[in-house]
Amino acid sequence: MRKRTWIAGAAALAMALAVFTGSGMASAQEDHSAAVKARQAHMQLNGFFMGQLAAIAKGQAPYDAAQATGVVNSLLALNTMDVGAMWPPGSDNQSLPGKTRALPEIWTTFPAIVEKSDALTKALEAMVVAAGTDLASLQGAFGAVGAGCGGCHRSFRAEKF
Ligand code: HEC
Repeated sequence: MRKRTWIAGAAALAMALAVFTGSGMASAQEDHSAAVKARQAHMQLNGFFMGQLAAIAKGQAPYDAAQATGVVNSLLALNTMDVGAMWPPGSDNQSLPGKTRALPEIWTTFPAIVEKSDALTKALEAMVVAAGTDLASLQGAFGAVGAGCGGCHRSFRAEKF
């Protein structure tokens, strides 16, 4: 009983402080951890499929037209999803240090990041055709896909957490 009163008291004090400082309240309501986790998982899937494609391009994995096309279609599906909700304002690396590498420029220069995303989609569309043609075509189209990922990272991702 006593303990519960203490907890209630602490909560009331925290709320009073939050109102007093005018901060706390908003940040307590905006928990972006699920969105950050989702977008990082989304990027890890990008990394996984990109690794498969790179192995084929480098001759470390056998080339098979249907399989290569499947990998590229997976990347295309990933990069044409509506991921807007995974990038809420206030979830940049200044607001959430140590949790995300997303630079504030994603939001301050919006919609510039959409152009980067579109550039990757274009490269992937060319890659679908190339991957289904032959290994030389796949290799020829690979650089543009890598540049599609890197182009966005250079502008909008911090080097480190
Ligand atoms: C439109 C911009 C954009 C594009 C295109 C993009 N990325 Fe990312 N990527 C980011 C940002 C921003 C982060 C940092 C996310 C965070 O930490 O919250 C990131 C993070 C990552 C991570 C680290 C994930 C983690 O566990 O923290 C990997 C791996 C990655 N990207 C791979 C790729 C690959 C591979 C591609 C291309 C197929 C790609 N990305 C395309 C913006 C992009």
